[in-house]
Amino acid sequence: MKKTTSYFREAKSQGKKLTMLTAYDYSMAKLVDEAGVDGILVGDSLGMVMLGYENTLQVTVEDIIHHTRAVARGSKNSLIVADMPFLSYHVSVEESIRNAGKMIQEGMAHAVKLEGGAEVADQIRGIIKAQIPVMGHLGLTPQSVNMFGGFKVYGKTKEQVGKIIEGAKLLEDAGAFSIVLECVPDEVAAMIRDSISIPVIGIGAGAACDGQILVTQDLLGMFSDFTPKFVKQYKHLKEEIISGVREYINDVESGVFPDEKHSFKIDKLLFEEIKKLY
Ligand code: KIV
Repeated sequence: MKKTTSYFREAKSQGKKLTMLTAYDYSMAKLVDEAGVDGILVGDSLGMVMLGYENTLQVTVEDIIHHTRAVARGSKNSLIVADMPFLSYHVSVEESIRNAGKMIQEGMAHAVKLEGGAEVADQIRGIIKAQIPVMGHLGLTPQSVNMFGGFKVYGKTKEQVGKIIEGAKLLEDAGAFSIVLECVPDEVAAMIRDSISIPVIGIGAGAACDGQILVTQDLLGMFSDFTPKFVKQYKHLKEEIISGVREYINDVESGVFPDEKHSFKIDKLLFEEIKKLY
């Protein structure tokens, strides 16, 4: 079944939990889509996971479009959300709409995600007015890492909780179809879930959220630069991959690979004839 933004909204009213994962390329998109996730986020986390940057700030609109196109080719049923990178929606409403439009037209995404609440309210309204569905992102917003002074839990003070609630209501009023809530205490996340009608997709925000999202490479144990506390590793593919590659190296060095089964043959008589020519 093809997942849409309406599906996301209805899931909340029916009490059905939503599942989302990140993907940045065709092969992984195909796998997570086949497994049955509701949504795939082409997150700007690709800057760290795929491009080896220290944070997400260097990711460009072109990077996201390039990876979103690949994900769109690999996915059949999941809702594809393209992350709007740093500065792609901060300069003006017009530029934000244009960049969001590129995610849809060139990237083939179904929706865009952007970080922040009141600070980016005009941009969110403008993008939605242009008929582009928006997913919000509150709590720890990684594009503000330099303002936060690191990646930290957000929502432990009165002021921070107030900002999250205000942002969530604003996003709902503006017409966002869902909100990612990152690194927020469980109790605060539950309060946000109860105070708005659109689904709250948590990452490090506890079990009360209407759905969950994780970085796929984290849950599969492929990315070991750092593992946040909220990540549950369902597989340990890093070890599997390294051991598979080591076996390959051993096989090549010892002459075990390639064997007959993995090689091609030419007709014997024809080859004898050819050999005589040289
Ligand atoms: O970029 C990303 O992957 C994200 C998720 C962590 C929600 O924003």
